Amino acid sequence: MANLTINGKSFTLDVEPDTPLLWAIRENAGLTGTKYGCGIAQCGACTVHMDGAAVRSCGVSVSEAEGKQITTIEGLTSEGVLHKVQQAWLDNDVPQCGYCQSGMIMAVAALLKDNPKPTDQDINDTITNICRCGTFQQVRDAIHAAANA
Ligand code: FES
Ligand code: FES
Repeated sequence: MANLTINGKSFTLDVEPDTPLLWAIRENAGLTGTKYGCGIAQCGACTVHMDGAAVRSCGVSVSEAEGKQITTIEGLTSEGVLHKVQQAWLDNDVPQCGYCQSGMIMAVAALLKDNPKPTDQDINDTITNICRCGTFQQVRDAIHAAANA
């Protein structure tokens, strides 16, 4: 059993301590906005926040996540208002197939919290998520738009 706090709600989940957090989020908590891409912490599709920091949830065990505040894409809005990163994504028509985008958005939201005006180099260094559709330029434009919002 693991006790997790996800998007401000408590979950008691029937999982092993070494179960990847991604599995618990998707399969046990039923929050399928967080995606499985590579499973080896390389692509970023599974990015969530753990105590406000971006983490790749396929590489975090539920035992490491216990006692932390986990936020998924479903928890990024506040009282029905889109996060400024989500709004910038809409305004800049970023998604193509969309598969990587929740992880992208979570990574960018964490970046802007720590660094409200990132340079292109900061973005290159921090947003290493992979997009098979090649939305990288739209992602960069939307990050700057969100930073200036
Ligand atoms: S699925 Fe976790 S980084 Fe790719
Ligand atoms: S929008 Fe398709 S993988 Fe990124």
